[in-house]
Amino acid sequence: MSERPYDVLVVGELNADILLTGDVTPEFGQVEKLIDDFDILVGSSSGIFAAGAARMGLRVLFSSCVGDDLLGHFLVEALAEAGVDTTHVRIDPAVKTGATVLLSRGQDRAMLTYLGAIAAVGPEDVREEWYAQARHLHVASPFLLARLRPVMRDMMRCAHEAGATTSLDTNWDPAGRWEIDDLLEHLDVFLPNTAEALAISGRETVEEAMEVLGSRTRVLAVKAGAEGAYGAERGAAGVVRMPAQAVQPVDTTGAGDTFDAGFLGGWLRGQPLEECLALGAVAGALTTTQPGGLNGQPTYEEARALARRVKG
Ligand SMILES: Nc1ncnc2c1ncn2[C@@H]1O[C@H](COP(=O)(O)OP(=O)(O)OP(=O)(O)O)[C@@H](O)[C@H]1O
Ligand SMILES: [Mg+2]
Repeated sequence: MSERPYDVLVVGELNADILLTGDVTPEFGQVEKLIDDFDILVGSSSGIFAAGAARMGLRVLFSSCVGDDLLGHFLVEALAEAGVDTTHVRIDPAVKTGATVLLSRGQDRAMLTYLGAIAAVGPEDVREEWYAQARHLHVASPFLLARLRPVMRDMMRCAHEAGATTSLDTNWDPAGRWEIDDLLEHLDVFLPNTAEALAISGRETVEEAMEVLGSRTRVLAVKAGAEGAYGAERGAAGVVRMPAQAVQPVDTTGAGDTFDAGFLGGWLRGQPLEECLALGAVAGALTTTQPGGLNGQPTYEEARALARRVKG
């Protein structure tokens, strides 16, 4: 696709998902319950995105930090196996790899997260020379990456100066402050979900939120779960609506991150907005049909074949 060695540079968090299924409602008072199943999976928005982007045929350089422990080594290996360049994932013996325990009960679930190494990802995990080596910089979860957050604006500025484009998936802000004004102006592609778009814009409908946010970024794609997704492009009239693909969801972990991978898989190949939305929607839907964020992530060819049907 280009002479640069990478299509996408991702700097962000990497943690594990420990997924427990069955009768998972805990009972205190030292009650022991037997559950149906458990899995240890790659979690985290940045990690799931990196794997999804590699699956879409993009050459991905991923930088992050994990602990020198079982989960840390498992995560690095799993991403490498997914085709991601993990050479620069820092293994820091001073921290523990973070994990989320997901108690999954049919369509509902509860999550308990230990941030661990996520809080250790910082400015030392980005190198100046990488910006010119990749065509695109993707950043996710700014509200969890407390040490990296202060330099994110500079990262996007440097990426632009080096001729790369940028994208952001905010994910949820546990503190409820939603401060990302400084990043919006340096963004090419903004990828929030509907709840996040409403919170960031301070509006009450998706239409209003899209008008506000669409005027501030080049390309806006808003993810709406089983409703599909909406897209808008600066300078083009109206909103493009993409229906979701009909699937039987088993586990929706990573649908948003896999949507990002599908969308950018199209966008970095120069595809028009409608095709990018269709690729994202198909990729997001497919990953909900299997447990874990990485399982079910499609290749570009697989996504393209199904996207044709979604678009009709
Ligand atoms: N139940 C579903 N059925 C069909 N498609 C779905 C379903 N859930 C998600 N998708 C597809 O995946 C995309 C992204 O999912 P979603 O809107 O849940 O993102 P998100 O809230 O950012 O997710 P995440 O929890 O990964 O952060 C949707 O826009 C949709 O196209
Ligand atoms: Mg999300």
